[in-house]
Amino acid sequence: MPTSTQAVDSCDFVVFGGTGDLAVRKLLPALYQCDRAGRLSIQTRIVAVSRSGLDTAGYRDKVLGELARFVPAESLDATIAERFLARLDYATVDVCDPGRWDELVEALHVRPGTTRVYYLACAPELFGPICAGLADRGLVDERSRVVLEKPIGHDLASARAINDAVGEVFSESQIFRIDHYLGKESVQNLLVTRFANTVLEPLWNSGSVDHVQITVAETLGVGSRGGYYESAGALRDMIQNHLLQVLCLVAMEPPTYVGRETVRDEKLKVLQALAPLTADDVATRTVAGQYTAGLVDGAAAPAYTAEADNPASRTETFAAIKAEVRNWRWAGVPFYLRTGKRMARRTSEIVIAFKPVPHPMFPNATGTTEPNKLVIRLQPDEGMRLHMTAKQPGPGGIRLRPVSLNLNYTDTFRTPSPDAYERLLMDVVKGDPTLFMRRDEVEAAWAWVEPVLVGWQESERGPRSYPAGTDGPTAANTLIERDGRIWHEGASA
Ligand code: BG6
Repeated sequence: MPTSTQAVDSCDFVVFGGTGDLAVRKLLPALYQCDRAGRLSIQTRIVAVSRSGLDTAGYRDKVLGELARFVPAESLDATIAERFLARLDYATVDVCDPGRWDELVEALHVRPGTTRVYYLACAPELFGPICAGLADRGLVDERSRVVLEKPIGHDLASARAINDAVGEVFSESQIFRIDHYLGKESVQNLLVTRFANTVLEPLWNSGSVDHVQITVAETLGVGSRGGYYESAGALRDMIQNHLLQVLCLVAMEPPTYVGRETVRDEKLKVLQALAPLTADDVATRTVAGQYTAGLVDGAAAPAYTAEADNPASRTETFAAIKAEVRNWRWAGVPFYLRTGKRMARRTSEIVIAFKPVPHPMFPNATGTTEPNKLVIRLQPDEGMRLHMTAKQPGPGGIRLRPVSLNLNYTDTFRTPSPDAYERLLMDVVKGDPTLFMRRDEVEAAWAWVEPVLVGWQESERGPRSYPAGTDGPTAANTLIERDGRIWHEGASA
């Protein structure tokens, strides 16, 4: 994972979906921050593409307003904003209408021979037509790259079709399938925690680990993204990509070195080792939920059906799955995955729950004890906490008490973590695919979630409801409690 604060090669950064939510909320603020940090070479240009019929001046005005909303005030600087806006061009293109590509062709032919990054921040069904359209107009050469946003398809067959269509135009080394979780500092730190230290790795297996929990809980609802979310749901939106990628980093074997393909090779092996879920497993080892109206952080939150404007919606906003990695290291260790919107608190964390002590050494002890647990907090409040048992100081007998060792990255490093997109966008320009998903990974992940998609679709019961502002449906508690375990709740971390 090489890092650099130097400016990378100049390029034309072309964003399809240039007026969309992702572009204005994430991509342009990230590019602004890169510019501010001196990581965009002076010749780098950003060409936004959409159907909305703006011109460059109108687009720059729009972006100026959006930067004020999405870049923290302390990072906004009028001189840098002016320099950044001057990089922006706008082209009106209807990718489905062959007669409406001229503006883009014109904008790009001004600078032949420049590295071109095509960022497809649009619906996945447009990925194939856009790539074909670019090729037809001579806009792709060996220096071009394409970035595909998730979701790549809505199931295995559609993912394969998209990968085939994109692969007709770009070679695999030119394709960057983004999963922004891999760009998070705390997620990258997982590999360092595991493999740049010696204390954890001997314990990181079924000999010492009882089970693993991976939770990504959000307090936000779907808001204005109801249109997209209705056809996605939590399984496609979060589990197929973010949670499985995190699981891979937790479970993978050490590669010989961290390189472009080595980490991806090891992640793929984990995905291929996931025990396939049968129809019975879908009934007993998975839970789908959907939020009803409730209170989040003290404020009233509407039901999902109201936000999605579909009273009959069966789309899940919560998903929990008990997974198993069938290999030597992890045999018999359940991995409980859980994600949801409008939950009680925002937290993304990994819990490595260790086995209890094999023999109670302190028969007359009072107090409480719990098996050791390592909680890795991905966000917010990045860090980790090791839960241990200690003797409460004092005379008399032994009184046991849970205590913890806490590492907080912000306090330790005193440097704010850059947004995941900043890192990933610069990796694309540098041509470094290490933190991007390879075709085989994406398809292996779809293959594993597909029985769940089918099972939930065919099931007579819809998702179980949970009031907004809670920890999800009670069935998710039953899923883990049946095994004699409980979810670790972040608030007490
Ligand atoms: C996106 C999902 O990929 O990740 C969103 O589409 C989700 O639904 C988001 O809210 C969560 O990302 P983060 O970085 O806020 O945890």
